[in-house]
Amino acid sequence: MFRSQGSDLVKGSMLALTIDAMLDFAGERLGPFRMIPCEIQSHDAYGTSPELFGQFFDVIAATLREVLDSEWSSEIDSAWQGLLDDLDRFVLDSK
Ligand code: HEM
Repeated sequence: MFRSQGSDLVKGSMLALTIDAMLDFAGERLGPFRMIPCEIQSHDAYGTSPELFGQFFDVIAATLREVLDSEWSSEIDSAWQGLLDDLDRFVLDSK
């Protein structure tokens, strides 16, 4: 889906902006979380469906779980599950 030249920069920037948006969505919702509906609209042009957004958030959570390994507690797990459910609803409402 990504261009052949410079795509690593786009992917890195996408990941950083997505993490900012998720943290803001989970916290104070000051502004960066609005990237999510904006990018759902603009990504239509890349052929990226809204469903892929939920999958991207799931991959980020799974990666953090892998990195934290035994430090990933049941409290952290249920907080993340709640966040991913809320994000799914937000993506559905943004379509
Ligand atoms: C909250 C989630 C996401 C954010 C904040 C985000 C952000 C961005 C940004 C800033 C760009 C650069 C161009 C632009 O401003 O539109 C971009 C490009 C792109 N994104 Fe995302 N993105 C997200 C999710 C996704 C997902 C889930 C996919 C596909 C699995 C995806 C695929 C792409 C592709 C294919 C491009 C074009 C890359 C290119 O020009 O080669 N994005 N994204």
